[in-house]
Amino acid sequence: MKTGASEISLLGISFEKYLTHAQISEAVKQVAVKINTDYAGREVKFVSVLNGAFMFTSDLLKHITVACTVTFIRAKSYHGMESQGSVSLVTDLSENLKGKEVIILEDIVDTGLTMQKLFERIEKDEPASLKICTLLLKPDTYKGDRNIDYTALSIPNDFIVGYGLDYNELGRNLPDIYKVKP
Ligand code: IMP
Repeated sequence: MKTGASEISLLGISFEKYLTHAQISEAVKQVAVKINTDYAGREVKFVSVLNGAFMFTSDLLKHITVACTVTFIRAKSYHGMESQGSVSLVTDLSENLKGKEVIILEDIVDTGLTMQKLFERIEKDEPASLKICTLLLKPDTYKGDRNIDYTALSIPNDFIVGYGLDYNELGRNLPDIYKVKP
């Protein structure tokens, strides 16, 4: 697999370039600006959702100018290109978030099941506030009723890889985002 190529193949499935690294970087920067404005004078605790959000987290935090700390949680719901319909928290939080101003960092909100599970888990800690910031949102498949506080990019219902997102764990290293070819 060649990073930067216009087409790639993972486990025999072809993907075509959909969002360039430059487009993603600009969208990430814009969402950071909104967070900096909304949280001026406050301290944010980011909860990054592994594995998919590692690249987004790294790039977003470079543009955050308010005081912040970051911690991680690990969730799993997808196998191949299918959501399993149930979400498991593979690795729980390593600290209590009571009284913190929490923003969850997700790679993608698809049905919203993972987000729902994360809210339920974190609300148990009684944070002072709790919001979500997602790199990508698939509005056509989102079934939740919670407001998505920050969205960098909205996309159609195509399966995508790259920039942290995977197909059977492959493709996370790609700087651009690719969608499966019809
Ligand atoms: P949800 O629970 O249906 O909202 O799905 C959220 C999780 O599914 C994300 O955190 C991703 O790990 C995974 N996911 C959803 N759509 C895609 C996709 O198009 N490519 C890769 N992973 C995806």
